[in-house]
Amino acid sequence: MPPMLILGIESSCDETGIALYNTDAGGALLSHALHSQVLMHQEYGGVVPELASRDHIRHVVPLLRKVLADSGRSLNELDAVAYTQGPGLAGALLVGAAFAEGLAASLGIPTVPVHHLEGHLLSPLLSSRPPQFPFIALLVSGGHSQLMQVNGVGEYQLLGETLDDAAGEAFDKTAKMLGIPYPGGAELAELAESGHPDVVKLPRPMLRSGDLNFSFSGLKTAVLTKVREIGAPSEQQRADIARGFQDAIVEVLVHKSLRAVTDSGLKRLVVAGGVGANRELRRRLDTQAANAAISVFYPALEFCTDNGAMIALAGALRFQAGASIKPAGAFAVRPRWPLAELTA
Ligand code: KG4
Ligand code: ZN
Repeated sequence: MPPMLILGIESSCDETGIALYNTDAGGALLSHALHSQVLMHQEYGGVVPELASRDHIRHVVPLLRKVLADSGRSLNELDAVAYTQGPGLAGALLVGAAFAEGLAASLGIPTVPVHHLEGHLLSPLLSSRPPQFPFIALLVSGGHSQLMQVNGVGEYQLLGETLDDAAGEAFDKTAKMLGIPYPGGAELAELAESGHPDVVKLPRPMLRSGDLNFSFSGLKTAVLTKVREIGAPSEQQRADIARGFQDAIVEVLVHKSLRAVTDSGLKRLVVAGGVGANRELRRRLDTQAANAAISVFYPALEFCTDNGAMIALAGALRFQAGASIKPAGAFAVRPRWPLAELTA
């Protein structure tokens, strides 16, 4: 197949991401651009869906222009437009989908609707040291916490998932209790760096449950109880709580991920999603995986959180496989879309 140029558009939540991917020898990300809405939503303490949609509208064209200018490519060189079809916020998804379908229709090229989590799952393939299939993936974002076996593009088997809060959601809710503004996960992790270990001891939910599921809402309640007990925590106490929380959640994530790899008989673990940026998670995984002769792969930090590059990549792989391509025009977004429904 000759090299293809695929545009990727991500707009499922509070980040507008656009990227250009070329499928030539091994594949190459030519350029990518991102606008984060975090500052806009911060004053409301969370994402306001209607504001998110309107902001995507404002940024999608300037970001596209930037990506084209940075890569020196023009619209009429595009072979297909990939975009996030779901899951996510309906209005936000509609902006990316309508824009992608309209653009593709005007250029007379097809579209490739992409599952957002497939984008996260495949994002480590963007790195200079990509993992080979099959691998186990720990997908930990603001909306999802899942362990999956990935045998190839579109071949995903769910091994375990959270029964309540997602890992990122637990980070964000705990951060909020410590007075850290939304989204809070990264800042809480930074605060934890100056906390002492074992000063604040918190439960390790479902560590010994015998399956690969998670539960994080109890941990959040334990933090709330601790914060109330202390009353007005000092800076050091806040850091100790952050440390206690992070150590608990990281221990569970590491334990279950390595267990999933061992059970599967595979030797490769991929970590994706926003929480995959967590330094303590990376440190502990690296140490414990090395002891078990397991290789761990991470996307670059900038591709852990939502971005257009992972959508362009997933779109390119889908385009090459042929099955997911559709003529530009009629479309529907899928705000709720279980990953297990995907096929190769
Ligand atoms: O994948 P992502 O950008 O969006 C979703 O699809 O949800 O993940 C965002 C989540 C947020 O909950 C954010 O607080 C969390 O990832 N996050 C972190 C870190 N950086 C981002 N959580 C812990 N430690 C970090 N360093
Ligand atoms: Zn995401």
